[in-house]
Amino acid sequence: MICQSLPDGIVILDFGGQYCHLIARRVREYNVYSEILPNEASIEDINSLNKIMKIKGIILSGSPASVNSDSALKIDTRILEKNLPILGLCYGHQLLANIYGGKVQSGALREYGQKTAYIDEKVGLLEGLNDVEKIWMSHGDTVYSIPESLKAIAHTDTTPVAAFIHKEKPIYGIQWHPEVNHTENGALMLRNFVFNICKCKANWKPIDNVKEAIEKIKNQVGNGKAIIALSGGVDSSVAAALAGIALGNKISMIHVDHGLMRFNESEQVKRAMNEIEFKINVIDARKRFLEKLKGIVDPEEKRKKIGEEFIRVFEEEAKKFGAEYLIQGTIYPDRIESGITQNADTIKTHHNVGGLPTKIEFKGIVEPLRDLYKDEVRELGLKLGLPKDLVQRQPFPGPGLAVRIIGEVTEDKLTTLQKADAIVSEVIEKSKITEIPWQYFAVLTNTLTTGVKGDERAYGWTIAVRIVESVDAMTANFMKIPWELIEEISTKITNSIPQITRVVYDVTNKPPSTIEWE
Ligand code: XMP
Repeated sequence: MICQSLPDGIVILDFGGQYCHLIARRVREYNVYSEILPNEASIEDINSLNKIMKIKGIILSGSPASVNSDSALKIDTRILEKNLPILGLCYGHQLLANIYGGKVQSGALREYGQKTAYIDEKVGLLEGLNDVEKIWMSHGDTVYSIPESLKAIAHTDTTPVAAFIHKEKPIYGIQWHPEVNHTENGALMLRNFVFNICKCKANWKPIDNVKEAIEKIKNQVGNGKAIIALSGGVDSSVAAALAGIALGNKISMIHVDHGLMRFNESEQVKRAMNEIEFKINVIDARKRFLEKLKGIVDPEEKRKKIGEEFIRVFEEEAKKFGAEYLIQGTIYPDRIESGITQNADTIKTHHNVGGLPTKIEFKGIVEPLRDLYKDEVRELGLKLGLPKDLVQRQPFPGPGLAVRIIGEVTEDKLTTLQKADAIVSEVIEKSKITEIPWQYFAVLTNTLTTGVKGDERAYGWTIAVRIVESVDAMTANFMKIPWELIEEISTKITNSIPQITRVVYDVTNKPPSTIEWE
């Protein structure tokens, strides 16, 4: 921190909602300090943060839990007596309404995705908004009625109390997620809370994260040696660049070709890395990965097997080099979606997180990017001087095409998918669309369908095309690309790949879907 006296700050109580860290990040983006504490933090725990900041307000996050269940997550209600501004988001909103005697109904009317909110009173948090706002909802429980002490200030078609204000205290609840970009005026709402209601000063700045990250690696690895696996994606490249600076010749960089890469990718990775003077050693592990995946159809099992095999390869390579540490490019969303926080649901096991076997022969795993989001990693990559096209590369999952092949992974399916995927990439990259999508790829579904090719009946696989826009992969929208491009992709795929008889376009947002199919 580079501020002389203590910075103003906001405490975020974590109920395990997916967006909890996004709230913290938004607040920090306004140059106001924020700290996350578990939901059950006592008033004494919260007060102890006064050593590092001047607490100006508290935000209660969302949660996969329900206030009506026996295991509902609670707060130390003494915080409500402090006269500190409090904002409840989603579950936080329901919890506050419940504590004050309102009624929350479970599961009757779920709302997911972008919805319309009608702002009934433009006060406090909702000051300066329009009569009608586009907001992001993701909830199963709904606040139906509130007591005399609270007042409803916004509603949606299905949620009568979408926002409320306490009549005497600076306490607010909103059912939607202002921290998510899809809430069009979310920033205004959060800023209203942080600056107008909590009266925070923007007097905090993060320290230089390049220097900090390098120091951290040096401290963790000490006099030891480390190994890093580069997938060729932005995360591992940035982690490698940091590790290279921090450790010099005490690091060995490898690329594991698990055979689940995109068409020709391992070759391209090697070339790109050589261009920026990273010497990498490509390990051909195609056979052993395919062997491990034989007969496995469950997505989580696939992820775990791949994670496990990766570690076994790393261990072998580390032994050759004498490395005791493994450096990984794990970023924050990888960890949150693997269920790292106490209350969060596991959405999928990212191979470089939850997919790690419990027995690992490394003294330590170093994750210099573990608290960053993709866009922050990209910024860091540019600061480090990595080439723009490497930094802007679309994300590719660690388990590779295995999570884009539904059902068992076989060599034949892999080759088929690689060809289809290469066509999607080629069409999108050559197209004149101004906004290059966040991700664009093909998925080999497990569905066989009838077709007709050259007057003959054909019976083949269905390819799904997934093209999404996103800022940080925590949410995503399917991209409404021109029909002509979809047609071009479909025609090229069915014409050139005999095994494919049908192409479909995935029109689901995240949530409710995830970006990858498995
Ligand atoms: P989902 O599918 O969860 O993906 O919406 C969010 C982002 O993460 C990428 N992804 C992964 N990245 N290891 C990774 O390094 C993984 O196991 C993994 N699974 C998904 C995905 O491509 C998207 O950008």
